[in-house]
Amino acid sequence: MTTPSHLADLSPELRIPEHVAIIMDGNGRWAKQRGLPRTDGHIQGQEALRETLRAAVEFGIHFLTVYAFSSENWSRPQEEVEALMSLLVSAIHSETPELHKQDIRIRAIGDIARLPENAQQALRESIEKTRDNKGLTLIIALSYSSRDELLRATHRIASEVASGKLSLDELKEEVISRHLDTADFPDPDLLIRTGGEERISNFLLWQAAYAELFFSPIYWPDFGREALLDAIKAYTARERRFGKTSEQIQLED
Ligand code: IPE
Ligand code: IPE
Ligand code: MG
Repeated sequence: MTTPSHLADLSPELRIPEHVAIIMDGNGRWAKQRGLPRTDGHIQGQEALRETLRAAVEFGIHFLTVYAFSSENWSRPQEEVEALMSLLVSAIHSETPELHKQDIRIRAIGDIARLPENAQQALRESIEKTRDNKGLTLIIALSYSSRDELLRATHRIASEVASGKLSLDELKEEVISRHLDTADFPDPDLLIRTGGEERISNFLLWQAAYAELFFSPIYWPDFGREALLDAIKAYTARERRFGKTSEQIQLED
């Protein structure tokens, strides 16, 4: 049997992470480099997401979380925030039918109530339409920051303790995980940041406790299948020890 040419570079030795999370950074610099307005970088970023998503499906990744808009991004110039929100609404409308066809399930994390009503509505419809899909789960982080998420979870846990629904003895790590926006998803195995910065910027601080980190110099609009494959190759070469010794890990394999 011959391997289809588009799969030719997928060695069976590759270890495919179940959950990949991406900090999609560098849209502004991509645009600036070309003398274009920052918004053009965000528009081109949508293309990059489409291609990356297609590749993630091809590679057999089950969960893809993308950092699309942080809580801190609300403090950008109003014009840019408005442009990002309107891009979000049009992207959800234009992409959902195709994503649905690809059996992709759409979910969102973050303080969604802070988004403009039309964005919330578009998101709700898209999540509802794709809820029973069995393919890749695309998790969009919007108005998201990890500290904000932990604070919202802490409020809910505290009120359960105060009302007697939860006892302090029962308060284990698993209870915290269950109260986060990501309660339904496994922790990310691989966390990629594009755009050359090497920081986490308030993303999945709890969930990425043992994620492998991969920093790419590529600006997000130029990211795609090949760049994702490079990240997965690097991931494959890593040894995830979870605090154990290398010898212990090799015995388990
Ligand atoms: C990431 O690109 C997109 C968002 C944060 C919304 P940036 O807009 O941060 O691009 P740079 O970092 O300024 O190049
Ligand atoms: C992180 O990028 C947030 C998103 C990619 C949505 P930023 O560009 O906001 O991060 P900082 O400000 O450089 O840390
Ligand atoms: Mg940035």
